[in-house]
Amino acid sequence: MKARTAPRLEGRHVTLCVTGSIAAYKAALLLRALVTEGAEVDVVLTSSAERFVGAATFAGLTGRAPLRGMFGADRGGEIHVDLAKKTDVVVVAPASADALARFATGRADDLVGALVLAATVPVVAAPAMHPNMWSHPATQRNVETLARDGRVTLVGPVDGEVASGDRGVGRMAEPEAIFEAVVGSLLPSPLRGRHVVVTAGPTAEDVDPVRVLTNRSSGKMGFALASRAAALGARVTLIAGPVALSTPPGVRRIDVRSASSMQSELWQALGPDLSGADALVMAAAVADYRPARPSASKLESGQPALALELVPNPDVLREIGHARHGNRPLLIGFALESDTDAKAVQSARRKLADKRVDLVVLNQVGESLERDDIRALLVDARDCRALEPSSKEEAASRILEYVWLTLGEKST
Ligand code: CTP
Repeated sequence: MKARTAPRLEGRHVTLCVTGSIAAYKAALLLRALVTEGAEVDVVLTSSAERFVGAATFAGLTGRAPLRGMFGADRGGEIHVDLAKKTDVVVVAPASADALARFATGRADDLVGALVLAATVPVVAAPAMHPNMWSHPATQRNVETLARDGRVTLVGPVDGEVASGDRGVGRMAEPEAIFEAVVGSLLPSPLRGRHVVVTAGPTAEDVDPVRVLTNRSSGKMGFALASRAAALGARVTLIAGPVALSTPPGVRRIDVRSASSMQSELWQALGPDLSGADALVMAAAVADYRPARPSASKLESGQPALALELVPNPDVLREIGHARHGNRPLLIGFALESDTDAKAVQSARRKLADKRVDLVVLNQVGESLERDDIRALLVDARDCRALEPSSKEEAASRILEYVWLTLGEKST
């Protein structure tokens, strides 16, 4: 028989804000999960939310009438401040395009906007809208602003079918994913206030319009790092090569293909003086070479032999290591070796010095590539610590422990 565990949100107060979207009915499922796990929940409805789902549904689940306006009959005009003080986390699900715009500009002319502005506790928002609205530059600008401010963590949206029958990114994350983000936002957060940039996956270098040079990296390690860093409270930018993995909750993801596009997105995220991030974890397997002259048209088959001239890609981590003055951002590289441990550690130390990074996570070709587990050594200038064979999630926790301990002891 499965052992009973304590409800995960016992003693916690959650404020669930519902804004106007067809996905509003899913907020009731989220509410049920929150209540089942022991949370005390107040629901706030915007007037457009009520066009999609009735207040009675929420009242039935919490035993309390949802809050609707800034000025309750018996409450005076400070409901938003009282709620912000009382609650442990504010969840906005679904968060419409309009809600995101209002949060990004600090509008406070309804209860949801005022509460999000007054809250100093975590705010988790689950956007839901038509894919055209999500990809619109105005919405993306608002998302950028929210990511920069670091006060609202987004979960989703995800790719799929939306109410109109169209497909694309815009569908609200499932209630289970939002629930996990809420629980995660209440965990101890040693990386709160930090910006961690993670790269993941392979790069793909075009040979011609249909053929690419790539490698066997699955991206799992980088995605586990991004997911764990977000759970530890960091603002996370994940720059991902071509992989078939879903974006972890609360993570801002930028998809790239080639080493040079990864290089330009990295400089964008870090800024020219590298002050845009506290740590960079380079888990991506960046291709060392690319075709010298990718062909604009498909190369014909049937030639007796084909020689492909390759030129070196920029070593992005080395470039960043050499541009760094001082000790921020913290730089972590990965190395993949097929040698025995002693020789591999020597080579990792050489990389550490050559690329001017703080830590190299060294793993063996047969013990990490395309696998769910990993056996690695953490090599820095002073130490070499072995990570016991573990899941990539556990390894991510150990690597991030190094990050927050080191950031805690360093000052620039
Ligand atoms: N790296 C990079 N740009 C490159 C190549 C690698 O930023 N063009 C980064 C990788 O993301 C990794 C680290 O540098 O964090 C080490 O990669 P690399 O030097 O390629 O080492 P190995 O993967 O061990 O492979 P090798 O030494 O055989 O090239």
